[in-house]
Amino acid sequence: MEYSAERGFEERQPPKHIAIIMDGNGRWAEARGLSRNKGHRKGVETLKSAIRSARKFGIEYLTVFSFSSENWSRPKSEISELFSLLKIFIRKDLAELHQNNVRVRIIGERNNVPGDILPLLVEAEALTAANTGQNLIIAFNYGSRDEIANATKAIATKFANGELQLEDINSDLISSHLETADIPDPDLIIRTSGEKRLSNFLLWQAAYAEFVFVDCLWPDFDELQFSLAVDEYYRRTRKFGGLSRVTA
Ligand code: IPE
Ligand code: IPE
Ligand code: MG
Repeated sequence: MEYSAERGFEERQPPKHIAIIMDGNGRWAEARGLSRNKGHRKGVETLKSAIRSARKFGIEYLTVFSFSSENWSRPKSEISELFSLLKIFIRKDLAELHQNNVRVRIIGERNNVPGDILPLLVEAEALTAANTGQNLIIAFNYGSRDEIANATKAIATKFANGELQLEDINSDLISSHLETADIPDPDLIIRTSGEKRLSNFLLWQAAYAEFVFVDCLWPDFDELQFSLAVDEYYRRTRKFGGLSRVTA
């Protein structure tokens, strides 16, 4: 229990689910006269450290935005670097994640994912499916509006087949048709690089998330920066529309 003059005694529950928009690799590299790709490479190192920090902080679910459905508009060479970094990450680091009892899941559109990446995603999920420790969710080729459109199609199909009635359609039903169906909504969404927008990330799931925007560029987001963002979450009062003061 912790005491604060403003809020009295309360339990400090860690956020169950933290989602991170890892932004600023390009600016980090450009500020050093390096290629944007070097920034992405450094960004992968930061991701590995963030996974370790999240485990240390007792975070059950960590979601990271690694490639958005809009990132296809970047130059081909940058897209292929991002894809090859993901491949290397899965090939090199999957065994260690598995050893650490991490369950890996990938959300995002799979239809237009290059043929050599798809089997790696499937393998990462299959190998770690029974793990019971930390949950790592990689949002790859992910766009929230597409996810909601796909859920809508699935629900409309069930309605057309008579598998569900109009009265069955409510927010729980929609949540259960999203790719995050069995994942709790994020408590905290962190975005690095100073941008203050969601960029089509977890729009539905973010309904009651706390947002922390930090100026730090993603490659510089070390354990101290991460802990400061979590501290900011602890200073927030979550009310979920009510009057009670709930911290988690
Ligand atoms: C985040 O860094 C990585 C991805 C979006 C894949 P950026 O590449 O967006 O870096 P900035 O925003 O240009 O600095
Ligand atoms: C969001 O960052 C996507 C990822 C971090 C993967 P962007 O850099 O693509 O977002 P915008 O373009 O600044 O909104
Ligand atoms: Mg960016």
